[in-house]
Formats: sequence, C-alpha cells, structure tokens
Amino acid sequence: MLIFNEMLDSIQSSAEAQKRFTSDVSHEIRSPLTSLRGSIEVTLRRKRTPEEYEEMLRSNLADTIRLSKIADNLLFLAKADNNILEFRKQWVDVRKLIENIVEGHKGRISQRGVSIDMDCRENLMLSGDIDLLEQAFLNILDNAVKYTSPGGKVTINAMEDISSISVTVSDKGPALPENEITHIFERFYRGSKAGGTKPGGTAWALR
Ligand SMILES: Nc1ncnc2c1ncn2[C@@H]1O[C@H](COP(=O)(O)OP(=O)(O)O)[C@@H](O)[C@H]1O
Ligand SMILES: [Mg+2]
Repeated sequence: MLIFNEMLDSIQSSAEAQKRFTSDVSHEIRSPLTSLRGSIEVTLRRKRTPEEYEEMLRSNLADTIRLSKIADNLLFLAKADNNILEFRKQWVDVRKLIENIVEGHKGRISQRGVSIDMDCRENLMLSGDIDLLEQAFLNILDNAVKYTSPGGKVTINAMEDISSISVTVSDKGPALPENEITHIFERFYRGSKAGGTKPGGTAWALR
C-alpha cells in the first residue's frame, strides 16, 4: 500500500511538474512576444524619427534573440527525448571549462553576492562533448548559486582516480528535504521551496 501511494505521489508530482513546465514555457514565450507586439503597435501609431525607429528595432532584436534561445532549448529537449542528440567528443580541459562558465556568468553570480572557490589542477583532461558538458555544469552551478544565501560561497572541487574524474559542487544553502531528494532527477521537478525563489527557475537556463 505504501509503495502504491508513493507511486501515485510520484505520478502526480511528475504530472504537476509537466504542467508547471508548460506554463513556465508559455510564460517565457509570451513575454518577449507581448513586448514585440507592444513596441511595434505603439511605434506604428504615428510617424517617428529615424532614432525612434532605430530604438524600436534594437528592442525588437533583443526580444527576437530571446525567442530564438527558447526555440533552441526546446529543440534540445526534443532531441534528447528522442535520442537523436549528436555527441561530438573531444578532449576538454576541466579547469578551463569551469573557469569559462564562471567567467561567462560572473555578472549574475556577483549580483547574487555569491563567491566561487575552485580547486582543480591544471591540464585535467576528460573526453566528452564540450557543449553538453558546459550545459550540465552550468545547470548545477546555476542551482548552487541560486539556492545559496546571498553572501554565501560555492565550492567546486575536481578529483581524479585511475578511471574517472569527479567534480563536486557544494553550497551552504538550505538543503533539499530528505523526502524530495529521490525526485530531483525527475524531469521538470522543482522542490517545494523552489517556487518562491523565482526569478530563476527554468528561466535562467532558457535565457
Ligand atoms: N544546490 C541546491 N540546493 C538546494 N536544492 C537544490 C539545489 N539544486 C537543486 N535543488 C532542488 O532541485 C530542484 C530541481 O532543480 P532544477 O531542475 O535545476 O530546477 P530549478 O533550478 O528550476 O528549481 C530545485 O527546484 C530545488 O528544489
Ligand atoms: Mg536549476
């Protein structure tokens, strides 16, 4: 009975997670579309100066770029679902990979007042698809930064043994309750406390 209840719970929570994902995605798509439509409609109400047209085009471009990124992400999910992701393996320098990610998001990280400590030796190489590895590390780092308190520290530690390399990302933020840990690899699952931490959510990954 217990197992049955747990099963029902997990079915329900993944159905809810799906619903939440759909509404997150439609929200993400709707906001640049609303902004595009609004700015075009307002601009067309009367004749404008070249500067005003230029300003409108710049704002339209930013919205269009956002929409393209959302489309890319949805395409990525669809490919992953259908096992048609192409892997391009190459040798990747772990330290450089992580440094690049941190560098690329330093504005966001310092905005949250979080500092990052990294311990990884030079020339630690692994074989993999650099884009997918970057995405995976970014997701984990994004979570660590997001779920740690402002002023907190995130520690990244890379270790190797004969056959593998492990990278640990730790933060001192509130841990996920024990009963939620089993759910975190369910697609679109978000912790019960995570909802209140927006902005963030899927949004950063989608942006
Ligand atoms: N570093 C972390 N500390 C605490 N909880 C975390 C951490 N990383 C992930 N989680 C939990 O796992 C859930 C799933 O993570 P994720 O799929 O990245 O979703 P999101 O970042 O949109 O909340 C989060 O909603 C959160 O509850
Ligand atoms: Mg996340």
